[in-house]
Amino acid sequence: MTAPLRPGDPTIVNVALGDRAYDIVIGRGQLAGLGARAAALKPGAKAAVVSDATVARLHIGAAEAALKAGGLSTGHIVIPAGEGSKSFACFESVCESLIDMRVERGDLVVALGGGVVGDLAGFAAAVVRRGLDYVQVPTTLLAQVDSSVGGKTAINSRHGKNLVGAFYQPILVVADTAVLDTLPPRQFRAGYAEVVKYGLLGDAGFFAWLEANVKDVLAGGAAREHAIATSCRMKAAIVARDERETGDRALLNLGHTFGHALEAAAGFSDRLLHGEAVALGMALAAEFSARLGVLAPDKVARAIRHLAGAGLPVSLGEVAGGVPDGDRLMDLMAQDKKVKRGKLTFILLRDIGDAYIAPDIDPAPLRAFLVEKLNAR
Ligand SMILES: NC(=O)c1ccc[n+]([C@@H]2O[C@H](COP(=O)([O-])OP(=O)(O)OC[C@H]3O[C@@H](n4cnc5c(N)ncnc54)[C@H](O)[C@@H]3O)[C@@H](O)[C@H]2O)c1
Ligand SMILES: [Zn+2]
Repeated sequence: MTAPLRPGDPTIVNVALGDRAYDIVIGRGQLAGLGARAAALKPGAKAAVVSDATVARLHIGAAEAALKAGGLSTGHIVIPAGEGSKSFACFESVCESLIDMRVERGDLVVALGGGVVGDLAGFAAAVVRRGLDYVQVPTTLLAQVDSSVGGKTAINSRHGKNLVGAFYQPILVVADTAVLDTLPPRQFRAGYAEVVKYGLLGDAGFFAWLEANVKDVLAGGAAREHAIATSCRMKAAIVARDERETGDRALLNLGHTFGHALEAAAGFSDRLLHGEAVALGMALAAEFSARLGVLAPDKVARAIRHLAGAGLPVSLGEVAGGVPDGDRLMDLMAQDKKVKRGKLTFILLRDIGDAYIAPDIDPAPLRAFLVEKLNAR
């Protein structure tokens, strides 16, 4: 592991995808260099900045100024904040606005925001004029360590989340860790769940480092950059191995099968943020791994202690407004994409830092496990 960074030093992580490879630039103040970096890739381009109303109020001025300083002309499209914007209606309006702005093949879409803006603007970039280059400028911790990297773009259908989309890689990611200073603490903690996920799924040393440095990461110290860079390195490596999730990339779903069911049950609302659902999902995945005899109980306790210590929910009783019964949760999990011939695919843990794909989980013991957890609330 590298030493924590000094402020001002960017870390650059390359996502090695051949002719579609790109850099993730991570560091405090890196937004100021956005224009120079974008111009180096697309000299003379027009940059259409897509953002949500909250992020635009805080950061769009700096982003457009940086783009102009790099010699690019700019325009912007501002959508309402929140998951509701990953809709066909909002997607249509962003596409039409890009065409209104006369954004051409040589131009650039800049997604400035959290995962909602990144997923929506990335998908619009994938299809408007059959593909425009785009840059991710993630402004939430979740987006910096997860959604801005890897090229999954999508909007939601009335049948569920992320059901309409494309694999479409950005040409650059600029993660300015200073923009996280304006992020509400609850959103920051939710993003931290995805950071813990990388330690749990594949790097015991990183998990131990997080145990020692969590306060500093949450407080915004120098450790924050290190946590983000380490997370991006791991995601970049997994994406480079398995861009379209035919194998290893599924490991990134640790905690997400339980998590998505709980998020759906809470109506994708503020009752349970995505990262909170993932924290709870990882706690359940660890406990279920122990139930199946593959993970030692002291390791379960260690994983849960860390998540809870970071202020994340780890038991079903902590979900505001309650959770539905075992059958309903099973239905919601079965609606997840990862069901084959009646068996569920789960990401389970053999150890801290050692997750594996279990494609053949029987519904019956899983249901019994959930009912027991529900009764224990
Ligand atoms: N594409 C992928 O690989 C991938 C991976 C994980 C999640 N996702 C998607 O990401 C979305 C969730 O992303 P998210 O958690 O970033 O949510 P989000 O984009 O809704 O952002 C959360 C909230 O924080 C506000 N915000 C963002 N940056 C801010 C800042 N710097 N200061 C103050 N407020 C700020 C936003 O306006 C919003 O209200 C979901 O739709 C999920 O499906 C995609
Ligand atoms: Zn996630």
